[in-house]
Amino acid sequence: MNVSEAKAKLEGLGQAHLLKWFDELGDVEQEVLLDQIDALDPSLLDVFKAYKGEGEAARGKLEPLGALTLSDIKENRERFESAGLDAIRQGKVGAVLLAGGMGTRLGFDKPKGMYNIGVTRPLYIFECLINNLMEVVEKAGAFVHLFIMTSEKNDEDTREFFEEMKYFGYNPEYVHFFIQDMAPAVAPDGSILLEEKGRIATSPNGNGGWFTSMAKAGLQGFLQREGIEWLNIFAVDNVLQRIADPCFVGATLLSGCECGSKVIAKADPEERVGVLCLEDGTPSIVEYYEMTNEMITSREPDGRLSYNYGVILNYLFQVSKLTEIMNDAMPVHVVNKKVPYIDENGKLIKPDAPNAYKFELLVLDMIHMQKSCLSYEVERSYEFAPVKNAEGVDSVVSARELLRQNGVEL
Ligand code: UTP
Repeated sequence: MNVSEAKAKLEGLGQAHLLKWFDELGDVEQEVLLDQIDALDPSLLDVFKAYKGEGEAARGKLEPLGALTLSDIKENRERFESAGLDAIRQGKVGAVLLAGGMGTRLGFDKPKGMYNIGVTRPLYIFECLINNLMEVVEKAGAFVHLFIMTSEKNDEDTREFFEEMKYFGYNPEYVHFFIQDMAPAVAPDGSILLEEKGRIATSPNGNGGWFTSMAKAGLQGFLQREGIEWLNIFAVDNVLQRIADPCFVGATLLSGCECGSKVIAKADPEERVGVLCLEDGTPSIVEYYEMTNEMITSREPDGRLSYNYGVILNYLFQVSKLTEIMNDAMPVHVVNKKVPYIDENGKLIKPDAPNAYKFELLVLDMIHMQKSCLSYEVERSYEFAPVKNAEGVDSVVSARELLRQNGVEL
């Protein structure tokens, strides 16, 4: 795209300010900016307008979805585990670590997985995850392919860190990095922000584009060649995360469901977690702020909350199904976050509070693209220690406490 084409595109979108400093830029910077303008998806601006007007799209008919409970799982553990271990030994299961997020709430300027959660010794978040996965590798006697999604912003740091730490004892041949897409950020008035005079402020486009990004990185062929049929997707920030958990894998495979989701029983009706339920008859996740008071307090005859099972971002998807749906449109969510930008005088502003809006695809929306989902209950104190904030709820402090309770030396 040349500068006059860029100008025409931007004028049509009411975003001509992006070229304010164009003449001051060097050749390379100009080219980068023109490429960004070329790649700019105008439909995101429509999404923002709609969001400003109506908020997020309305939901379909929501109904509760039960779960395979802890006691059901206990009764069948041996059968489930053996099926899961078989699948793992046959190389049918891969794991995908979603590590492309910016982790802005934690306020750590490196990739979140590089955070040292140790107290008397170094213990990095990535290391906790690899240690957990190694337990399965040892049990199965086979390595599991681990795909790590990074973003443009943290890819180099992440790869270098794994190299430096010698993959924490994992087999590097089983670790594959791929980079996710980016999306622009806009100010509250809808104008796209610049992070430098020659660069649009972009952020990773959410965790929902992971399979498309894997495909763009050319990994579909690899999955096929290796015979990987199932992918266990998980977040970087749960240090108690059980990855490629044989019991979960086996239960999902034997259930005949298209996918599986780990869930935890809500600690109290008001807990701020997304709940796995049915929407228009197929699995879906309803966010806590979308629930009516009636949904929050409704109970089943056995006394359990009707909308009881919160998701912890640990899902098992079938590769064949993912391939089928990968070109289907996913909802784009608008989220209010802190985004550094340059003001009209070209001065860099690092905001202390959310100042801008980002566009994100969310992995939880993939659940609604499946016909059925096994809702698989896990023990919160054994599997859920999220590190979102430095202090308080879901923080380094609470995760350390949970790690200690699980016998991890800090
Ligand atoms: P969060 O929703 O906590 O987002 O991510 P975040 O960007 O990391 O953190 P905040 O909100 O700025 O503090 C949940 C999981 O999804 C991954 C994260 O790395 C984490 O594992 N993620 C999120 C991505 O891989 N890409 C994204 O664009 C966003």
